[in-house]
Amino acid sequence: MKRVFSGVQPTSQIHIGNYIGAIKRFVELQNDMDCFFCIVDLHSITIPKNPKELYENSLQLAALYMAVGLDPTKVTLFLQSHVPAHSELAWLLQCNTYIGELNRMTQFKEKSQGKEIVTTGLYTYPVLMAADILLYDTNYVPVGNDQKQHLELCRDIAIRFNKKYGDTFVIPEPLIAKFGARIMSLDDAKKKMSKSNENKHSKINLLDSPSKIKKSIMKAVTDSESEVRYDEENKPGVSNLMTIYNILGGLSLEDIENKYKGMGYGAFKKDLVEVVVSALEPIQIRYEEILKSGEVEKVLKEGAERAQEVSNKVLDRVKRKMGFIMF
Ligand code: TYM
Repeated sequence: MKRVFSGVQPTSQIHIGNYIGAIKRFVELQNDMDCFFCIVDLHSITIPKNPKELYENSLQLAALYMAVGLDPTKVTLFLQSHVPAHSELAWLLQCNTYIGELNRMTQFKEKSQGKEIVTTGLYTYPVLMAADILLYDTNYVPVGNDQKQHLELCRDIAIRFNKKYGDTFVIPEPLIAKFGARIMSLDDAKKKMSKSNENKHSKINLLDSPSKIKKSIMKAVTDSESEVRYDEENKPGVSNLMTIYNILGGLSLEDIENKYKGMGYGAFKKDLVEVVVSALEPIQIRYEEILKSGEVEKVLKEGAERAQEVSNKVLDRVKRKMGFIMF
């Protein structure tokens, strides 16, 4: 069975971009692949993180993983910090990664720009991500479009390592959807929907209330026309809303265009509110049930055991190849 690995950073702001670009697709893969889905808590401390928030957000993301439909009897759900091999392999890989490669990472440039304090962790973030993936002999990595460059670096590191030390790593392939891999911000359709955008109406979080969802969609930027038509270049705002409608509501782009012909944006947006609220409501109900049930800790504990079992073997293989004394 092919192996899948992916991760999401724990924040209270998991949005429909994360859902459509990644988490929803995790659910679709769980029946056919051996899946490892990680809460990458170590990555989330690369920018300042309040300890109480880290603790709570980590448990919340685990509950959310299950609430969207990930079944812990089929997939391995775990916290990155519970598997020390991630940090250890990250160090070994850092010694096989070049500063020039990290300097090219656009996400580092974006996240560090204008910041007074930038940690070395933020700089080496992509190497920890490569370690996450390579530790599980991963074949496929489902991610949104913004992780493409990190995946390319991961492949480069693995290929170079294999050349230098002999066959060690499986070379992973990104699984980036052709449609929906980049959900745009609701307040600016030229920027991706992002956890760090301070305007709360720029995004829809999975746990948002119906009234907040309504406000954000009704405020969403469109254009000066009134025609509901898919045209990414000339109508990026409307096209983004149509993408969300299509993926969460199941209506094709063509059907959406036909349905709202001559009706303007108001009716379209009003129905989109319904589509989004109906898609998120069952997730929110399950989320509350799962959090109350107390099963999250047990799932994470079992997940960590399985993740350790698999990753320790790979780490052992890597260290032997590099010449470390292993008993
Ligand atoms: P993170 O937590 O920022 O995002 C989680 C996933 O959501 C995707 N995503 C989007 N997809 C579509 N439209 C958007 N606007 C959008 N915003 C985010 C991301 O591409 C991602 O798939 N570095 C990763 C976490 C990570 C990881 C890994 C992923 C750490 N180790 C190993 C895969 C494999 C990140 O920060 O994701």
